[in-house]
Amino acid sequence: MESKKVLVSGGAGFIGSHVANYLADQGNKVVVFDNFVGGKDNLKYFGDEIEVFEGDMTDRNACKKALNKVDAVFCLGAHAAEGQSVFIPIFNAETNLMGSITLLTESINAGIKDFVFTSTIAAYGKPEKLPIREDAPLMPEDPYGVTKMAFEHYLRVYYELEKINPYIVRFFNVYGPRQRMDDPYRGVVPIFINKCFKGENPIIFGDGLQKRAFTYISDIVEPICSIVGKKKLINNPVNIGAEKAWTVKELAEKIIEKTGSKVEIEHVDKRTSDVKVVYADVSKAKKLLDYEAKVGFDEGIEKTIEWAKGEGIKDFKYMDYFEIPKMAHGIYKTKDI
Ligand SMILES: NC(=O)c1ccc[n+]([C@@H]2O[C@H](COP(=O)([O-])OP(=O)(O)OC[C@H]3O[C@@H](n4cnc5c(N)ncnc54)[C@H](O)[C@@H]3O)[C@@H](O)[C@H]2O)c1
Repeated sequence: MESKKVLVSGGAGFIGSHVANYLADQGNKVVVFDNFVGGKDNLKYFGDEIEVFEGDMTDRNACKKALNKVDAVFCLGAHAAEGQSVFIPIFNAETNLMGSITLLTESINAGIKDFVFTSTIAAYGKPEKLPIREDAPLMPEDPYGVTKMAFEHYLRVYYELEKINPYIVRFFNVYGPRQRMDDPYRGVVPIFINKCFKGENPIIFGDGLQKRAFTYISDIVEPICSIVGKKKLINNPVNIGAEKAWTVKELAEKIIEKTGSKVEIEHVDKRTSDVKVVYADVSKAKKLLDYEAKVGFDEGIEKTIEWAKGEGIKDFKYMDYFEIPKMAHGIYKTKDI
């Protein structure tokens, strides 16, 4: 991408802050647009080259102001918690759907064409075939996946109306430095690391044989930042992530071993919407984005633990907010994660 002014919504978050740094390092003028519900910890990674704009994606005026003279939008702002979305469907839709639609609307009003959206493997739901190809049916199992799928359709509609060039990337389970360690609802890697640091048993929902393609952060940042201008990927969703999947039990064992903790895995009832095995076909990304996973599972976990050591032990921050309390796993109510 030639040097541009780009807006990164959710730029204070885990993936967004890495994307903001990468885009700035490429010589772009970067505006981070975030309401900081996920905290401000990652602002410490920004220098003066990154402008930080505090605002909410659901606020049309804030979007309008933040989008001033912007050439391309990276829409990453979201409440990105699959399991939690089942018991907070309204909040999930307000943030992930209405927030994204608002940012899209004001981008179109500002005449911005290039719009990158971080969708998710959760949009596929329970796969009919593995690995999942991009043309597989989208049948999400949770409200988070539903809103991501729905917004993909908004992008398609405005593309067909010739108002936007959407680039849709479907990520898997991304992990690495800067992912929140104090969020009990998502990010199994930092949750397990934090538990091991505390000397507490990592807790697994169900038997732990659910498989996920854990993907190290640096492997996705480069492809997403280089996607704008790739004509074959306009309105053509692309999977990006690791090709090999690991069980959550294997993940827990690895983290226990690599942190040297004297803890044991504990199991609780499974979560109702958890899909058993998901990993996706990334041949399209390899062909059209030169995608190549460079960081293996062991190396990625080691790097994340190294970073986490610098952060230290964190208290989990629970939300006392349940729209459908009976849908919340008991462990979220007893705050025992
Ligand atoms: N982490 C993953 O494994 C993964 C996988 C697939 C897709 N994604 C997608 O990638 C994107 C980034 O995920 P992440 O893991 O970095 O999450 P994150 O929670 O670390 O970052 C999200 C950021 O969005 C901000 N935000 C939330 N609501 C907002 C609002 N209304 N207005 C403005 N900012 C708001 C938060 O403050 C936070 O900084 C999300 O869209 C997520 O759905 C993530």
